[in-house]
Amino acid sequence: MSKYDDLFADTAPDESLFVDKGALDPLAEPPEIVARDDQERELATVLNGVHDGYLPPTVSIYGPPGTGKTLTTRRLCREFATRHDTVAVEYVNLKECRTLFSAANEILFELTGEKKGAYEGLDGVFAGIWDALAAYPEWTVVLLDEVDHVRHDTNYDPNEFFYRLLRGEGKLARDISLSVWLLSNELLEVDLRLDSRVESAMSDEAVFFPPYGVAELGAILDPRIDRAFRDGAVPDAVCEYGVQEAARRWGDARKALTLFRQAGETATERGLDRLTIECVDTNLEQTEREATIAKLLALPANHFVVLAGITGRDQGGTIKQPVTTAEVHTVIQDDAFPTELRLGERAIRQLVTDLETMGLVETWIESRGADGRVKQLETTFDPQWVREAIEPYVAESAYLAALADG
Ligand SMILES: Nc1ncnc2c1ncn2[C@@H]1O[C@H](COP(=O)(O)OP(=O)(O)OP(=O)(O)O)[C@@H](O)[C@H]1O
Ligand SMILES: [Mg+2]
Repeated sequence: MSKYDDLFADTAPDESLFVDKGALDPLAEPPEIVARDDQERELATVLNGVHDGYLPPTVSIYGPPGTGKTLTTRRLCREFATRHDTVAVEYVNLKECRTLFSAANEILFELTGEKKGAYEGLDGVFAGIWDALAAYPEWTVVLLDEVDHVRHDTNYDPNEFFYRLLRGEGKLARDISLSVWLLSNELLEVDLRLDSRVESAMSDEAVFFPPYGVAELGAILDPRIDRAFRDGAVPDAVCEYGVQEAARRWGDARKALTLFRQAGETATERGLDRLTIECVDTNLEQTEREATIAKLLALPANHFVVLAGITGRDQGGTIKQPVTTAEVHTVIQDDAFPTELRLGERAIRQLVTDLETMGLVETWIESRGADGRVKQLETTFDPQWVREAIEPYVAESAYLAALADG
């Protein structure tokens, strides 16, 4: 017997608690959307505006991660469009866009399958967008997903982008009816600090997706846990416990699905024939850690550098928290950082505000008597995770790569 016989026998899934682990993949489209009746109704009502000859110029769809915004909005629009020839829906994810030019180009690409070269500028791209839309049905809904990612790494003013998209001359001249749906974690007017010119071009239409409660997460997870695990592998009490903890800590369906996948893997590794509360507990921290590190790896370089600064001081063998902006500044001036990333205090303050909006950093003011008031910063998660993310970040980061080649 070769060593591989042992290896394959060892890793063969016959001991596994799973029969269809894919059912717990958050990227897999569930057959049915559950527990979002209110939001579905609100979105359907907005779409039905076409029967009265009106779609709002913008609709804000916002709420914390994993609350079904992308899933629900895409599916509802698609279902509506298949029932109405006068309505077209296009979906654009702006997550990877680092400039407003590339964001506009991404929209153009969705409409035409082509992009413009940099020399054509934002004007050229928008001209292309209006050309394309002129040939579209009477109503076009463009879903701009993860639109809050754009600002954090761009040199342009988001106001400029939104003003063109909503009030563009080409659009007005051709009487194009476009409804732009903005999907994000925070309400955009607040997050992007949009000016009044843009705000007045936007509608107040907004649909909020709150974190899921226990009952809702249960409704989402139960059918998927049923499909994923062998009969009897997940006792009711363990299922309830996991759902409860996921609801209490996150309210996030994506994390909850991951939690049960990982707990199942732990149980299998330990040779158990069913999931235990202990398996869930082991993975609560693990799920949090993985989700946070994934978030850190997706940050623009400046934001990542500031986090490295916030977690860059040691005190008595552990990472010092909280720290002040001045301390962060000192850390970042270190030779280990590329010169382009040695940010000034003003830039740091702005980036800290962004990180706070993203839920990664907490700040408060502390009074220090005669020394006045000092702002204190700390991460909302185990600061050690930033250190763990540094190596993969530098290895993977498109941002740093772009920075490196100029
Ligand atoms: N109401 C639901 N019914 C069924 N599955 C759901 C529901 N909500 C979320 N899910 C599952 O969770 C996954 C994540 O949801 P989704 O991508 O829509 O979240 P999101 O609110 O867009 O998050 P983010 O802010 O991170 O973009 C979905 O792909 C789906 O598998
Ligand atoms: Mg989404």
